[in-house]
Amino acid sequence: MKKELIRKPTGTLDILPEDSFKRRHIELELCQIFSIYNYKEIRTPAFEKTELFKRGIGDYTDVVSKEMYSFHNNEFTLKPEMTAPVIRAYIENNLDNLPGLVKLFYISNMYRHERPQAGRYREFCQFGAEAIGSDSYLIDVEMISLSTKILENFGIKNFITKINTIGTPIERKDFLKDLKKFLEEHIDSLTETSKNRLEKNPLRILDTKDKKEIEILKSAPRLYDYLKYETKKHFEAVLNLLQRINVKFEIDYNLVRGFDYYTSTTFEIISDELGSQNAVIGGGRYDNLIEELGGKPTPAIGFACGIERLLYLMERNNYKFPSEEPLTLYIVTFDDETRELAIKTLIKLRENNIKCDTDYQNKSVKAQMKEANKINSEFTIVLGDKELQSGKAFIKRMKDGKEFEINLSELEKINFSKYREL
Ligand code: HAM
Repeated sequence: MKKELIRKPTGTLDILPEDSFKRRHIELELCQIFSIYNYKEIRTPAFEKTELFKRGIGDYTDVVSKEMYSFHNNEFTLKPEMTAPVIRAYIENNLDNLPGLVKLFYISNMYRHERPQAGRYREFCQFGAEAIGSDSYLIDVEMISLSTKILENFGIKNFITKINTIGTPIERKDFLKDLKKFLEEHIDSLTETSKNRLEKNPLRILDTKDKKEIEILKSAPRLYDYLKYETKKHFEAVLNLLQRINVKFEIDYNLVRGFDYYTSTTFEIISDELGSQNAVIGGGRYDNLIEELGGKPTPAIGFACGIERLLYLMERNNYKFPSEEPLTLYIVTFDDETRELAIKTLIKLRENNIKCDTDYQNKSVKAQMKEANKINSEFTIVLGDKELQSGKAFIKRMKDGKEFEINLSELEKINFSKYREL
């Protein structure tokens, strides 16, 4: 009896060769862009101690309270995001001893047990950057403009960059008191999610997508009015410089983001083309996180982008991905003797970086020719009895069917350029 197929887990993706090729292109481009901006790559483990995320991201955030893949008695957790792991690695490896600002980037898979839907997966890939060691508004501007540059580089046109400032937990204290009071007055109109957030994470209510709540929030106290002068001055400086360098943005006073570590500047890049999961990039400052995770007080800022959402936008915008180079040569064989000659030839050609292949499944000559056609090989050579006896074969240029005679002794050093031009 045929065995039942075991399918991949819900919310995960098999990335097949065509998509892998596109992703590899994105990754190579990103490495180049980050190198130009002087960011260096960091890789961290796929899992971390659960405590890192609880302390770093916050117990009451959605990610920590509902979405973590934890195992071994909850001791470890597959990383749901990269900022906390990068900061852990920064502290643990004394990267503060490096000269200048520490600028790091990463490309890695993340894991969140969310309800899967278009653009939302349980295993997804993020790339991102973290700049550790400066409280200057200049680095905020660099992060935001780098984010938009990356999207533009990948041919994405219709996006909106939303920016806000959310101050520090101390600055938010009075605001949260007033916000709770205000929301309690409207408790009957709140969704169940917001009612639950009211006690533990009221700030997130500002992020609601519920139309009725959005209306109510229009008359709620505004966090910005509670922030201290320095925080507002920093924010103004960020906005002014962004304007001067022509980075388009919108201020969104309700943009609070989903993690507790954020302080001051937060930003998100959204696109209508993405549907309900409309954020492609999210980031912000987290000036208290390094101290919170056991390091010296150090200001920092970063962002991350979901590669699945980026890829979707690139395809929608008809991005011209490079195409994979076809085979230069496919050798069609007849029997074991010719197959061995083919393998010997291929080994030599490959040593000279010629992309070539043959049949390993004892297919008929006709089937092999069909395959060579299908995979778009530039040239083919048929090796049969006749060729072995005469010591000569024909190299066929597939695009126009022209054939040229070559000696078998020449096989290992075929000059393909010659046969391209003849
Ligand atoms: P985040 O907003 O949770 O931020 O994620 C950043 C991006 O990752 C999102 O805008 C989205 O493109 C992608 N993403 C998130 N969740 C999923 C999912 N379930 N499926 C597919 N894509 C997803 C962070 O992770 C922060 N660590 C960003 C940051 C870096 N802040 C400071 N530094």
